[in-house]
Amino acid sequence: MTTAIYPGSFDPVTVGHLDIIKRASKLFDRVIVAVLVNMEKRPWFTIEERTELLKKVTEGMPNVEIAGFDGLLVDFAAQKKASAIVKGLRAVSDFEYEFQMALTNRKLDDTIETVFLTSSAENMFLSSSIVKQVGLLGGDIAAFVPECIKDEILLRIKQRIKK
Ligand code: PNS
Repeated sequence: MTTAIYPGSFDPVTVGHLDIIKRASKLFDRVIVAVLVNMEKRPWFTIEERTELLKKVTEGMPNVEIAGFDGLLVDFAAQKKASAIVKGLRAVSDFEYEFQMALTNRKLDDTIETVFLTSSAENMFLSSSIVKQVGLLGGDIAAFVPECIKDEILLRIKQRIKK
């Protein structure tokens, strides 16, 4: 059985992430979407909240699991006996950062391969930061996030505006 980890901040999950999850779930027997800590980011949602949002949007996907972890990605992958890390690549601008992470992870554990899936053309511009920025400035985020979690994200945006 092939297990892949799809790691990220998912703050919050977007339709772009969901597209990668769906496509990865066709390539691997089991996909574990892992909400991890990115020390360079200040998240809006707790790991638990992000995990819940991901569970909602992946309901009905039998080989997809959601987990939160606050340690090293390679340790989590080893714990889950995963052979691959899946990452989405949107544009050349992602490449340097992703390449650095892939090489670091390989140096830490060379039994786990990083596999890059190219973003779908319609999601090339999309990121969690864009969702938050558009929402904060009163724009419509409907096309950017799965419908079933839109209201929860809008609520958090309203809370941030009040701060
Ligand atoms: O969605 P992001 O923020 O680009 O995802 C980055 C993430 C969370 C996958 C990365 O920061 C990560 O792997 N964090 C866990 C800690 C770790 O293993 N760091 C070393 C690898 S660079």
